[in-house]
Amino acid sequence: MRKSMNRVGILTAGGDTPALNATLFGAVEQANRSEVEVFGLIKGFDGLLNPAVPHVLLNPLYQTIPELDPCLGGSIIGSSRTYIDPNKPEELKIVTERLKRLGIEGLICIGGDGTISGMQPVSEFFPCTLAPKTIDNDLGLNYLSEPNEWTRNGVDESGKAAYGRTAGRDEIELQEIVNYATPGYATAVYVVAQAVERIRTTAESHRRIAIIEVMGRESGYIALGSAYGQPDLVLIPEVPLNIDRVEQKIREIYDMQKHAVVVIGEGVMDESGHPLGAVDSHSKDPAGNVLFNGAAEALESILVKRLGDAYFQKNRRHESAKSAIFTRKVGHTQRGGRPIQFDRFYASQLGGKAFDLLMAEQNDSIATLQWSDSKGFFLDSLAANKLKDQWGTIHPRLVHRSFYDEFKFQPSKLGIQYLRSIFTHAIGQDDTEVIRAKLFNPGNLVTQYQSVNVDVQKRIRYLDKLASTTTEN
Ligand code: F6P
Repeated sequence: MRKSMNRVGILTAGGDTPALNATLFGAVEQANRSEVEVFGLIKGFDGLLNPAVPHVLLNPLYQTIPELDPCLGGSIIGSSRTYIDPNKPEELKIVTERLKRLGIEGLICIGGDGTISGMQPVSEFFPCTLAPKTIDNDLGLNYLSEPNEWTRNGVDESGKAAYGRTAGRDEIELQEIVNYATPGYATAVYVVAQAVERIRTTAESHRRIAIIEVMGRESGYIALGSAYGQPDLVLIPEVPLNIDRVEQKIREIYDMQKHAVVVIGEGVMDESGHPLGAVDSHSKDPAGNVLFNGAAEALESILVKRLGDAYFQKNRRHESAKSAIFTRKVGHTQRGGRPIQFDRFYASQLGGKAFDLLMAEQNDSIATLQWSDSKGFFLDSLAANKLKDQWGTIHPRLVHRSFYDEFKFQPSKLGIQYLRSIFTHAIGQDDTEVIRAKLFNPGNLVTQYQSVNVDVQKRIRYLDKLASTTTEN
């Protein structure tokens, strides 16, 4: 790769995934080959908005620092949901000046849709590329023309533009998918499928109905992938809950197997289109995403009422509906820990590709992972603008309706094909070996956890030393 810069910056923004260090690693290793220095900016865009601009040289002498381990979950340079406000030109000016003062000539952002929106305004003043990540697997398109299907219908209750969508296509080909799978997704599914298996046996012995809530916001990819754990019902946010059919299916299953396991995506909606688990439409995280919290509990209370105590008492299975039905959130275990092989491998490839795009002066573009029947997985790129609708909004990619069978509450034939292409070889031998070798290592009982933050802190430098004494990072 031709060297067009001597020093680049890199940051990780948004919710973390287990594969961020692998992406950083891939980008830094690629930079080493071209003898380009890489400055890791601490805590995403927050580091650039901080006058001290804490940063770490990730490759002194063009050798990757030992703390940057692609098998380690999280991000050694930290992440935040702080983004640059495109409507504040003075903020953009300050940020680009800071980058230039550090001698940085281009910026690689590792992130999802929020990060692209944060990166794009910067890219008008400063070369930027993006390496994708998100456990939600919602950064991408089912097909290239998908953004054109969005329509605007006035404003919603919080005063923001309300979006609608035209019907869209009934069928898609897998090779049309833009950004087939995002780093972090495979590990999240691995964790969720294991959780389903574990909750299954306890529900089985205690004649209970388990409702397991998984992450993913409005997108049901994680829920879809949970099918590997063989839940009896998978409920995805893309299909509004038909409670009559859900109840009937649960009764059939519970009558026969004396227990049932339901997976529910956190963004599942009721029939009127209101998210079951939204605290309220005004509760948002710093990036403006609605906070979901309680889809499983909402479904539990609906089922408690509908099934009633007598249903569980009749065969002496339980005293009450309340004691028979329970909920569990897989929670942040989906986002943490060691990435599995699929994520490690492709995350680091995508990091390398984002570096190459920067060197090739492909400003405002993103590295993508593509799949086709003939080639398998391969790397490509896309202009970030292609993800936007005509008003400039990037919408989360939703599970295409052809991936889900809403009568069986399971992935459809095409959905199964999609999952198989990702997961059949997703786990490497070292992923299983590491459990044997590491978890019950007797040394764990006597040695305190050694946080990578402590070691990275020793390497942090500041643009402005004075400001560093008054800021946290
Ligand atoms: O976008 C990633 C994600 O893990 C979502 O699936 C989830 O809703 C959200 O982030 C949780 O965010 P937080 O870490 O702020 O609780």
